[in-house]
Amino acid sequence: MKTFAVLHASQLVTLAGAARPRIGPEMRELRIIENGGMLVRDEVIVATGTSDEIARNVPADAELIDAAGRVVLPGFVDAHAHPVFAGNRVDEFEMRALGKSYEEIAAAGGGIRSTVRKTRAATEAELEQQALKHLQRFVACGTTTVEAKSGYGLSVEDELKILRVIRSVAARSSLEIVPTFLGAHAVPPEFEGDLQRYAALVIDEMLPLVAAEGLAEYCDIFCERGYFDVGTAGRILGAAKNHGLALRMHVDQLTNYGGAALAAQLGAATADHLEQTEADGIAALKRANVQPVLLPGSVYALGKTRYPRAREMIDAGLAVVLATDFNPGSSPTPSIPMVLSLAATQMKMSPAEAVTSATVNAACSLNRVDKIGSLEPGKLANFSIFDCNDYRELAYYFGIPQTHAVYVRGVEAFRA
Ligand code: NIG
Ligand code: FE
Repeated sequence: MKTFAVLHASQLVTLAGAARPRIGPEMRELRIIENGGMLVRDEVIVATGTSDEIARNVPADAELIDAAGRVVLPGFVDAHAHPVFAGNRVDEFEMRALGKSYEEIAAAGGGIRSTVRKTRAATEAELEQQALKHLQRFVACGTTTVEAKSGYGLSVEDELKILRVIRSVAARSSLEIVPTFLGAHAVPPEFEGDLQRYAALVIDEMLPLVAAEGLAEYCDIFCERGYFDVGTAGRILGAAKNHGLALRMHVDQLTNYGGAALAAQLGAATADHLEQTEADGIAALKRANVQPVLLPGSVYALGKTRYPRAREMIDAGLAVVLATDFNPGSSPTPSIPMVLSLAATQMKMSPAEAVTSATVNAACSLNRVDKIGSLEPGKLANFSIFDCNDYRELAYYFGIPQTHAVYVRGVEAFRA
């Protein structure tokens, strides 16, 4: 049995409180302990308190971690990411800089399809190696749990290949990974013009295999003009539900397409993106208690200006989540601190609301709030130590690494 204590944190940001999504003014209550301490036994937090309280009860043989002059937070929970793919899309990044839009590039055969071509050609070992490299960068930014979607295979064989890669990197990475099946990410070229035939492949062949092998907890879909319409999305997700998968959805990213209402109707865990969602969509999400997952990194990286209406969502009582959307096309960042910065500057979320969105609320959206998302006795010792005195500096000093060390289940996963 290994016991250690973290002492003298300038702020121990606990987010202690009920094991449920935080809404409205609760999102600003971080339950910070100044000059804080925390006692960890094996992989679990045993106590939090002032550094003096914790120091008084530390066993003689315990290791001590001095966090003086540093902030300690729960490990970030990134509830929306696409970390398994081959290659990158740096050429499209340059094309956008020179004036082309994401939609124009996709219509010309680039976009998701270009990553699908490369990912199909890659072996499991190659995908694994690239994914592990990306995942270590998430850890370096203070993240300890990452949701991982498939979606760059779009054939039975290649979707299963990606999900198996997700499973094997989950076993090899220090991070906790939550797998999501996104076979309905785009219609692959061999099904061009025959959406229904591809939907049938997803429903009749992919979903039963994914469920039988236990390869995913969630099913996701890209509900968007030119991708999956509301009716087809409803059928695919209904089938996923019948296989016991919970639902997440990409909705209203490029156009206001009715996806938020569908997420509400299906009782999805989350509706993600929502850049184009208006008041009616927000009201529908609230009626069904669907959590919005906001992805400002994708708005920023696509050079767009319309961010989701986070303030209205918070005022409506929605339990907002923030995530990176890490992927090669629209959001090549694994950095939650960057997302916190965008949330503050572009969506007028307070730094405290942003931290709540990327920790405890994100943990709720992944059905894991009993184990992660806050620093409280009984929860896993997943935490990050940052080189600043005040948690707000994480979003304020954007674009620089401030991570000092990261622990997952009580084990050091990163040190600067
Ligand atoms: O979340 N919107 C759909 N999927 C991704 C983009 C994927 C890509 O361009 O490769 C997203 O933004
Ligand atoms: Fe996404």
